Amino acid sequence: MAGRIPQAFIDDLIARADVVEVVGRRVPLKKAGREFKACCPFHDEKTPSFTVSPTKGFYHCFGCGAHGTAITFLMEYDHMSFVDAVETLAAMLGVEVPRDESDRPARRYDELFDLNARVARGWQQQLSGHDDAVDYLKKRGIDGATAKRFGLGFAPDGWSAVLDRYGKDAEAIERLLSVGLIIRKDNGRHYDRFRDRLMFPIRDARGRTIGFGGRTLGDGEPKYLNSPETVLFHKGRELYGLHEARQALRNIERLVVVEGYMDVVALARHGIDFAVGTLGTATTPEHLNRLFRLTDNVDFCFDGDRAGKQAAWRALETALPLIREGRQVRFTFLPDKHDPDSYVNEFGADAFVAALDGGVKLADYLISELASDVDLDSVDGRARLAERARPLIGKVPEGVYRELLMDSLAAAVGLSADKLKQLLKPGRDNDAARDKQRPLAKIRRIGSHGGPSVIRRAVTLLLNHPEAGRELDASVLAELERPGAALLRKLIETVQSEPNISTAGLLERWRHDDEGRYLGKLAAANIPAEEAEFDAAAELSQCLGQLKLVARKDRIDFLIQKQRDSSLSDDELAELRGLR
Ligand code: CTP
Ligand code: MN
Repeated sequence: MAGRIPQAFIDDLIARADVVEVVGRRVPLKKAGREFKACCPFHDEKTPSFTVSPTKGFYHCFGCGAHGTAITFLMEYDHMSFVDAVETLAAMLGVEVPRDESDRPARRYDELFDLNARVARGWQQQLSGHDDAVDYLKKRGIDGATAKRFGLGFAPDGWSAVLDRYGKDAEAIERLLSVGLIIRKDNGRHYDRFRDRLMFPIRDARGRTIGFGGRTLGDGEPKYLNSPETVLFHKGRELYGLHEARQALRNIERLVVVEGYMDVVALARHGIDFAVGTLGTATTPEHLNRLFRLTDNVDFCFDGDRAGKQAAWRALETALPLIREGRQVRFTFLPDKHDPDSYVNEFGADAFVAALDGGVKLADYLISELASDVDLDSVDGRARLAERARPLIGKVPEGVYRELLMDSLAAAVGLSADKLKQLLKPGRDNDAARDKQRPLAKIRRIGSHGGPSVIRRAVTLLLNHPEAGRELDASVLAELERPGAALLRKLIETVQSEPNISTAGLLERWRHDDEGRYLGKLAAANIPAEEAEFDAAAELSQCLGQLKLVARKDRIDFLIQKQRDSSLSDDELAELRGLR
């Protein structure tokens, strides 16, 4: 089999290909300003909303959302395979398609899935031979059948059990590295990542093992160790237990999102087969898209503490763009000191389901949060309410749900719907003046709702002006746990390692991802590049400056929380003083 086509060649091909020519040979295009228009070949329409941009090198349909590069167009319109599309384009440009022989073995995904499966099986077989692990499971109320269903296993202590058994030659070692099962030391030697841990295989929706989580049996640190991000495993996208839920249920009527491995497993043990875990990360749009593809009823179940409230609010913000009539999202907060695992073990399955059924509906939660501590008798209070509500309501797609939401909000705060709508019009707040008086206000505002939109703006700028990201300092993104932060970081890394990459080149790289759809939309956004004073690089570094404030605020919140729990170390206390 031939090796892979080098990415650099594809980038270059896309930068050079004339998308107008490729599309224009198949669909009659009309010039409209700097772009070309046509009736969309991918859906039925009478007025043209299909646009081809020669400068950005891609097409986008504002009607059905179809978008892509010259390569995608050939694939979709002519039903070509990726390789055929690349070869067709290369032939148009009169160049030969090179093949990369060197990096072929490690990248064969089937081999990687297979490797994970073998290691998971090995660990599973070890479980019964280790009394401490078996006792631990018993102590946590997990029976054999449930352990089997989730493929739980045990990675015994030792530095090279996996390495010795599965890493017999250089290629095998590369494969172990690429799925994160072993770690390379500075001296070039390797050791096992997972040692003396109870192992939870993480499966994708098709049941293939893509990564692992490992829990200490005692109270060693870290409590859970997970596979790193690999070609197979993207933490922000996967839902632990989704495969098992689909296996167990004929119809998925509802899904409940919980935080941890043990939560999912314990619920399943009690017959609640519809739980999935976000594995400790914030809920991402990818998560939600995946959930809504399976069911209209999504519950979030969080701990009742502050962190739980925070996580719920973030989940709410992420869910807003996906909310519409017919979809129901609810939030359940468990009593203090409980998580779903401890709750179901103490009170049983019926009590847990009852707690879910008593959850707060998204709209009610949104409204009660917005209306809390706002004095509606003062002008300032009403302005504050509007300021808080505007970005949130703006995220809800226009339609029945949004109208109902505004009506309920108006009723809850005692304003007429018209008056509220008027307040919600942009341009009424006076942020700059207030920020002078209260420097923290700015951080707070970005922290609560500005974060994602700053990230979105940065992604949009970068996509439209890849060259503007070449000198950017993106270090802050490594510590920022916000939806989109990882994507932005990857984009910046890409434009820095491939300084000549084009908008279309970036889209092509993300074509396989769920994120690709989202990027296509942002790339189609119009950025006023023509205006003389517009400076994309400056705008981008401004965005990153704002994100630094967000990261700082997150860090402060985190430290304050630790202080409340009395688990703040001296170093952290000093850090907190320095930050405030
Ligand atoms: N997590 C993680 N790394 C950690 C801590 C937590 O990846 N160091 C993730 C795990 O997916 C974990 C989830 O966050 O399941 C929730 O964490 P936490 O509430 O601390 O743990 P529990 O799920 O309650 O774990 P357990 O009941 O086993 O103590
Ligand atoms: Mn727990």
